[in-house]
Amino acid sequence: MEDKGTAEESISTRFAPVLGGVVRENQSFDSTETTAFTWDYTVQSEELRKLYERGKSAQWNASLDLDWSTDVDLEQDLFDPDPAIADEPWFKKLTKREQIHLVVELNTQSLSQFLHGEQGALIATSQLVGAVPTADAKLYAGTQVVDEARHVEVFERYVREKTNGAYDITENLFLLLKSIVEESRWDFKFLGMQLLVEGLALAAFIAMMDRCREPLLRKLLRLVLQDEARHVAYGVLSLRSFYNDMNEKDRLERQEFVFEATIHMRDRLFSTQAYERLGIDLESVKDFHSRSEHVRHFRKLMFANVVPNMKKIGLLDGFLEKKYDEIGILHLQDFDTAGLLQSYIEG
Ligand SMILES: [Fe+2]
Ligand SMILES: [Fe+2]
Repeated sequence: MEDKGTAEESISTRFAPVLGGVVRENQSFDSTETTAFTWDYTVQSEELRKLYERGKSAQWNASLDLDWSTDVDLEQDLFDPDPAIADEPWFKKLTKREQIHLVVELNTQSLSQFLHGEQGALIATSQLVGAVPTADAKLYAGTQVVDEARHVEVFERYVREKTNGAYDITENLFLLLKSIVEESRWDFKFLGMQLLVEGLALAAFIAMMDRCREPLLRKLLRLVLQDEARHVAYGVLSLRSFYNDMNEKDRLERQEFVFEATIHMRDRLFSTQAYERLGIDLESVKDFHSRSEHVRHFRKLMFANVVPNMKKIGLLDGFLEKKYDEIGILHLQDFDTAGLLQSYIEG
């Protein structure tokens, strides 16, 4: 379904992905946790404490700050179609009503993945409170746990009240979340959650805001985006300089993890569920996904936040630099996302 290069062939089976697969059953498993108590409560990172202050003062209440009484009828053409499908012959053949319906379902599918991803963030961040070594990082993680609970709340409520119902989590996304929460080393959790999953979520929220004219959802996404920008900053601040003195073998293990997670996040978007719900021929859609320039372009843009952050934390060299070059995203390393993000947050 995707341009398979040499880079992908070399990845290990850590995530054992099944493209297009979903996970329906509730999942329960044991994971080994590192828990660190510290008796040193002094400030070690002024920047983390500043972020903690921002985290506290930027709290919002999902039940009060969003107008849930807004009458939402998504079938009233409230989303522009993704440019990836708008020019497709099979899409143009659909009636206007069918097009609107498909676009609504594709967005509901994305919102459902946001919801499931937010649960992963809630669980992973709660683990971070125990795992991170410093008081600065523990206090900040505490604020992020509340943020993620709120994100689960708003996406669940929006999908339940305003759409035709949630979609299952894709197997790719679940396997990535599972590998993050099963990992005992705290820096892997940061790499997987704060830098990859949340970095990609920022790009996905922005892409959805660009195409959405529904005011409740636009405000919801803007509020979540504000929080997620802090979460990514938390990851960068926590890992910056952490890898400077690490031996090559351990650094390489991190780089391999990042690369595998990158591939799985890139492919996670593809889900057949919306098409199945609407009875659309899957073969033509799979074919379109494999050749669409728009899909490829979008997938690369999704990493405009991730690649520069890997550079900022000092992991973008050697193996990872080579692999990112092979899959065509290395050129994003100096992309400045801060201004763009700010314009969306200020709305
Ligand atoms: Fe979140
Ligand atoms: Fe987050």
